Amino acid sequence: MSFNPLTERGIPIERQFRSWSELASQPYDTRDVHPYTRCRVIVMNGIEVEAIINSHNAARRIADTGVKQMLALVRKAEQQQQKAVNWLIPGHESTIANTIGYEQVAVDLTGWLARHEPDPYLKQVYEFGILEDYDHLYRYANLMDLMGERRKAEEITGDLTEILPGRPTIFHHRHPHDELRRPMTVEASDFQSILNAITIVSAEQQTMNYYMNVGNRPENPMARSLYLEIAMVEEQHVSHYESILDPTTPELLNLALHEYNECWLYWSCMVTETDPRIKQIWETHLAMELEHLRLACEMMKEVDGIDPAAVFPKNGVSKPMTFEPNKDYLRDVLARTLDNTASDSQFVPVDQLAADHRFFDYQATVNAGGVPSEMVIQRHREEFGEEYRFATDGAHPIPSLKESGTAEGTDYFRTIERHMENA
Ligand SMILES: [Fe+2]
Ligand SMILES: [Fe+2]
Ligand SMILES: [Fe+2]
Ligand SMILES: [Fe+2]
Repeated sequence: MSFNPLTERGIPIERQFRSWSELASQPYDTRDVHPYTRCRVIVMNGIEVEAIINSHNAARRIADTGVKQMLALVRKAEQQQQKAVNWLIPGHESTIANTIGYEQVAVDLTGWLARHEPDPYLKQVYEFGILEDYDHLYRYANLMDLMGERRKAEEITGDLTEILPGRPTIFHHRHPHDELRRPMTVEASDFQSILNAITIVSAEQQTMNYYMNVGNRPENPMARSLYLEIAMVEEQHVSHYESILDPTTPELLNLALHEYNECWLYWSCMVTETDPRIKQIWETHLAMELEHLRLACEMMKEVDGIDPAAVFPKNGVSKPMTFEPNKDYLRDVLARTLDNTASDSQFVPVDQLAADHRFFDYQATVNAGGVPSEMVIQRHREEFGEEYRFATDGAHPIPSLKESGTAEGTDYFRTIERHMENA
């Protein structure tokens, strides 16, 4: 299978605008939507939000009226696409159920990207992030029961994604300087690495924005504080992933890369979608993106003199990004890298940090006086007699997390405690 968005014909931009009634399409039914259809809706909303924000940022830095007009025109179409996609989420789906969907996206999207990432350093970047979102899924799944939601988390995720402790969230809190990775360069990178990076930054940014806005909506104090804590980790995730992007990319090349990425992802959604009605939306949006890409390439050539043929792969792309289970892969990443933390742009086992590393100070500051991601598990045990998990492939691969997902008892915790005592 291959797809070359530069040789396909799209819908002329002036014909892309839809009426209010066309945009407000019928939402999916939260009880029978395929979990990966929900995931595609969540991720494509994040992709459109990034398209819009990136275009606004470009508009603020570009003086050329012609370019500004093109940006405004295409951006309005992106905004309509965002509405058509995000309004597929029904009002009867609760925020916590939707949140479970967001973290399932983070797990199975990152899993696909990591498995298809040709650069070994970037693969480490994805493997580092995935264990954290994996743990968020588990903490929120426990919260969901405490909030009195009638459904269990596995009714949202299906049996496609296991819900187990990852690297416990309490350990995610690092000094901000340790969130910055080594950037790639557009010239030297495999093209797949560029697509992967734009995709993950968009998805994590949307998760960050989402928690920033919905985290204060619950009345339940446990819910408010868990959203607050995890929202701060999503800030880290955006810093972590955006720092792999090439910071020297010219504005219009950056725009063209974004449009190319949208083409790749709508094509991916179209060829993997199981719901025929929603497949139609992906197909229409793909036809729109082909035109966005054509316009961006035209401007890039005219204004910056960059030839699209020098940037994009001659034969297009061959692999659709696919939502599919990553269960074995995750168990393997857990076994290999659970005890890692970050120091500058490197990933290292936490027990190899110097005694005076800023990680320990930062941990002591934010974790003083109780940690919501730990409390949510304890609270679940008190109310239900056990914590919530969903395993399809046997017990947890890490002995210290087999019985309990709280931090106490893990090697990670002992390392931090040792440093606190010596401090
Ligand atoms: Fe778009
Ligand atoms: Fe997360
Ligand atoms: Fe994340
Ligand atoms: Fe676009």
